[in-house]
Amino acid sequence: MTTSSLGLPLGTVTIVGLGLIGGSFALGLKANRLCREVVGVSRSEATLAKGLELGVIDRAEPDVEKAVRGADLVMLAAPIGTTEALLRKMAPALDGTTIVTDAGSVKGNVAAAAKAVFGSVPPWFVPGHPIAGSERSGVEAAKVDLYRNHKVILTPDNATDPQALRLVQRLWQAMGAEVLLMDVPQHDAVLARTSHLPHLLAFSLVDTLAKDNENQDIFRYAAGGFRDFTRIASSDPTMWHDIFIANRDSMLDVIDQFSAGLDQFRRAVEQQDSQALLGIMTRAKAARDHFTKMLAKRAYTKTMTEKNIVFTAHPGGEVKGSIRVPGDKSISHRSIMLGSLAEGVTEVTGFLEGEDSLATLQTFRDLGVTIEGPNHGQVKIFGVGMHGLLPPHGNLYLGNSGTSMRLLSGLLSAQAFDTVLTGDESLSKRPMGRVAKPLREMGAVVETEDKGTPPVRIKGGQLLKGIHYDMPMASAQVKSCVLLAGLYAQGETSVTEPAPTRDHTERMLRGFGYPVKVEGNKITLQGGGKLTATKIDVPADISSSAFFMVAASITPGADLILEHVGINPTRIGVINILRAMGGRLDVLNEREVGGEPVADIRIRYAPLQGIEIPEDQVPLAIDEFPALFIAAACAQGTTILRGAEELRVKESDRIQVMADGLKTLGVKADPTPDGIIIEGGPMGSGTIESHGDHRIAMSFAVAALRSQGDIQIRNCANVATSFPNFVELSRKVGMKLDVAEAGEQHG
Ligand code: S3P
Repeated sequence: MTTSSLGLPLGTVTIVGLGLIGGSFALGLKANRLCREVVGVSRSEATLAKGLELGVIDRAEPDVEKAVRGADLVMLAAPIGTTEALLRKMAPALDGTTIVTDAGSVKGNVAAAAKAVFGSVPPWFVPGHPIAGSERSGVEAAKVDLYRNHKVILTPDNATDPQALRLVQRLWQAMGAEVLLMDVPQHDAVLARTSHLPHLLAFSLVDTLAKDNENQDIFRYAAGGFRDFTRIASSDPTMWHDIFIANRDSMLDVIDQFSAGLDQFRRAVEQQDSQALLGIMTRAKAARDHFTKMLAKRAYTKTMTEKNIVFTAHPGGEVKGSIRVPGDKSISHRSIMLGSLAEGVTEVTGFLEGEDSLATLQTFRDLGVTIEGPNHGQVKIFGVGMHGLLPPHGNLYLGNSGTSMRLLSGLLSAQAFDTVLTGDESLSKRPMGRVAKPLREMGAVVETEDKGTPPVRIKGGQLLKGIHYDMPMASAQVKSCVLLAGLYAQGETSVTEPAPTRDHTERMLRGFGYPVKVEGNKITLQGGGKLTATKIDVPADISSSAFFMVAASITPGADLILEHVGINPTRIGVINILRAMGGRLDVLNEREVGGEPVADIRIRYAPLQGIEIPEDQVPLAIDEFPALFIAAACAQGTTILRGAEELRVKESDRIQVMADGLKTLGVKADPTPDGIIIEGGPMGSGTIESHGDHRIAMSFAVAALRSQGDIQIRNCANVATSFPNFVELSRKVGMKLDVAEAGEQHG
């Protein structure tokens, strides 16, 4: 087309329809010098006069045909009900050199109008829709920056001239808008939900209340809620009339959906059904709180991890006082899972409000479970029973959490519906074949990617049978996955583990009244039983405590008490190893809380010695090695770790990433296939890449207590997955830690 010469600025741009949208487009063009002349067309002489007076347009032209003849670009911004008539009037003046775009809120009818006039949507017509506006209308309301930081959706089709598309795209971008492309039906369906239905409801609510004379008073007293909800009922009725009619099919669809939801709400109120009411509202609140995630149709998103949080840890800090670290991650996950499947209401205290356990919580909401909270660690789960989960609306997004994905794979394999489990970049690389294999032996239909990585696709409706599984690796997640599937399997399911791993699943199942037999390294249960709601007090996480155990152990003068720490014998490797290195740790006030042993732990500084770490301690300290490697770097002599190849498939390859970080600080650290050899010695300073692994980030923050200079640690946002208040507690005990957000995303 001859418009190939259309560089910016353009010559004449004609705006047909001079209201808020057209007027703001005109102002945006002029302010950004995107054209030499703006011509305005309107049926109303007063509007044209106002447009000239306000400097929105350079020239007024009441005749549409005359106004568009010879223009480089035409923006159709009149009410969408007039589109066909306007295109018909413009047609004789459009010779293919003029590009036409529009700003209509519905695209199906615009395409239909173009077809009616031209036989098909012409290549020079680029339909568009700026998602910006306000309840105010008219050229007086036009704003030069209306489109800045707003989205504009363009709906080209295969016939659209790419140059014309590019030009329209560039104009919007030059005004600061973000341009998205969609097809017409998708646009109309999405907009019916996100914009048209809310407007319809606002009009309807105000009309319903206003009809009743007595209700006039209500307006006088109506405060925030009414005002917020009904602001858009002041929008232009003509414009919205056209939109509702133009988008008829999608509107009917969403009105029906909404009416069904309202009926459900009505029933819940009528029957005073608290569980149903709370179910609707807690799901809605969670969805609203995670608005963008909900729009993306996924349970949970990576808002935090998208930020590149940088820690700068300074030397010279101290480690003193008494703190309680947040709740145990493993127990928090399991409390939601078993509480959801139980009969009755389970109350949890001390729940970890970290992103990993919140991913599990959100997943069960997506599976139809009503969950109140968390609120200061308190969660109330309205169990739905073993067979009460409902199919989710989309994929279940589990963020960074391997535990969620592996345990849920077992549980969801036994449900009547299909599910797809996805995760973030790190989780998407982690091995899931280890759970898919035994689940398939039980009769589950589970697919992963070729390398055994997520997404995990589970086909529901399978009848599972109990198996005996001899685990090839010591993994509590694999064990728990098989046991959770076993709850639904026919007959007996048993697992033997090559070395003891954390037994929270077994303990908690018993707490929910489900019999579990443990004989040596073999754990057995029968399928077909039921869980009964209970109370769960989650102890402080020994894995989070480990950073402070190491911090106090390496800092001269340190004296710290960690309160209410879970000291389950399958988790206390870190205490055993630090003691073997000469660490001074006292376990005080041992007690049992809800089936889990708990104690306060006092740690004082003591010079550490390098050791050969006994291999039987590896599964008992599996998450604590990054912190223990810092202790090894501060110890005298050599520390050798073997039999820990599992560390290579955690949130990062923790052997390699720790070795790289230690080397950056000048410590001799030699990785081996299944461990590492660390030579204690002075630590310098430097910048560490955590690879988005929470435990790597926290370990190097602790290292600064003994480094000679600052340690900068990149990509620390994932600390929020397991220890959201790590920085606050570190500062509380006297560590010197700064946090900043870098301007880039982590890769
Ligand atoms: C966990 C088990 C461990 C551990 C993870 C939590 C659990 O993983 O590393 O942080 O809650 O069951 P593996 O079972 O893969 O060793």
